[in-house]
Amino acid sequence: MVLQSVVRRSDGVLALGGLSLVDIARDARVGTPAYIYDVDAMMSEARELKSGFDDASHLVAYAVKANSAGPIVKALAAEGCGADVVSGAELRLALRCGISPECIVFSGVAKGDDELDLAIMAGAAGDGGRGGIAAIQVESVEEIPRIEARAAASGRVARVSLRINPAIDIGDLDTHSYIATGHDEAKFGVPRTSLEDALALLVSSRHVRLVGVGAHVGSQLTAVDGYVASARAVFTIARAIRARFPLAFVDGGGGFGIDYGDGCPVRPADFIRAARALQREMTVDDLALFCEPGRCLVGAHGVLLAKVVQQKVASARRWLMIDAGMNDLMRPALYQARHRIVPLLARAEAGLHATRVVGPVCESSDDFGVHDLPPAEPGSDFREVAILDVGAYGFAMASRYNGRALPAEVFLRGGAIIKVNARSAAEDWVTDRLRD
Ligand SMILES: Cc1ncc(COP(=O)(O)O)c(C=O)c1O
Repeated sequence: MVLQSVVRRSDGVLALGGLSLVDIARDARVGTPAYIYDVDAMMSEARELKSGFDDASHLVAYAVKANSAGPIVKALAAEGCGADVVSGAELRLALRCGISPECIVFSGVAKGDDELDLAIMAGAAGDGGRGGIAAIQVESVEEIPRIEARAAASGRVARVSLRINPAIDIGDLDTHSYIATGHDEAKFGVPRTSLEDALALLVSSRHVRLVGVGAHVGSQLTAVDGYVASARAVFTIARAIRARFPLAFVDGGGGFGIDYGDGCPVRPADFIRAARALQREMTVDDLALFCEPGRCLVGAHGVLLAKVVQQKVASARRWLMIDAGMNDLMRPALYQARHRIVPLLARAEAGLHATRVVGPVCESSDDFGVHDLPPAEPGSDFREVAILDVGAYGFAMASRYNGRALPAEVFLRGGAIIKVNARSAAEDWVTDRLRD
């Protein structure tokens, strides 16, 4: 049985990247909860996505926030990915992973002056004192004089792109309202009503150069329509302003969805092919096409392993208590996201019961939903579960709430474990809380 990246072997053992997850969960170096990543599969996602561009000039700027683990960012960089970063720390990480400044874009609505300085000063000064990253994404009119001031102070010219808000209604997107970002109420992007003000400032800026126009309409899109509508808004503006500004690229953002178990009819490269076709139709296909995928490169290729602590059966209700909680995987509590949960070792003879899976965190929202699972009697071999498709926005959002440790991370390549990041120690949390 194939569960995307994860495979159920004929002996009932769940495997990832060719390795038994039972063995990994019981490996003394690892322990649970632990995130396990198939890095090879992430790299082949990047290759497949890049194939959607054919020979067109492009940048796949991996959204580092989805999963910022060094081995993953480095592996994607080796596949030719750049980075989309949303903080100075992520920018530093991308540079340390060998991504060159010209392949980095910096998004986000409240970049600090220190973060702008970092983006402006990255890389060699180049021609005309430019240097810096590929583009700081301008998300409001008010941000332009701030970037201008920082660039002037450092004697450089900052490249920027205009992140527009394409005003795509939440209802027109096939995604959760919490991850829709291109509607009128969203804090993101320059609204249409402010566009002329932004352009007027940019045209007179001496230390800011507009090189791109982009948008990011939302995440976990499982149809291309919303993305194409957003790209049309971007390309329309690019076409209208390119005589005034020396544009180098248009940027459709990220948001390509994955199959969380209910199917996903489109592949990430389908979004790219649709955007390329629209570029040709609107005669802006001489501009490079940037995209900012996070989830689709890494999401399906990570699992969270957890130990069964005990079951609770009362009044015909069943709960399974596991040692992973909402602090380890926040998506269900944050976005009502549903992840499949399966035993690491499946016995054909075991009957299945509707069971609510919960963690140890002292919150009612520490709840991973109801799943068909075998009974977990003491002494049975149902000892661990895997929570599937957690490679994106999993560990990246983990916290130490309730004094819990951060989960372990295990990286697989070529059918072997290449790195184990051990769980943080409980004592570290105590020391940190008591520091003078
Ligand atoms: C500006 C921007 N780019 C890219 C992404 C990545 O989105 P995804 O992981 O859905 O591809 C996000 C996510 O919210 C974003 O805000």
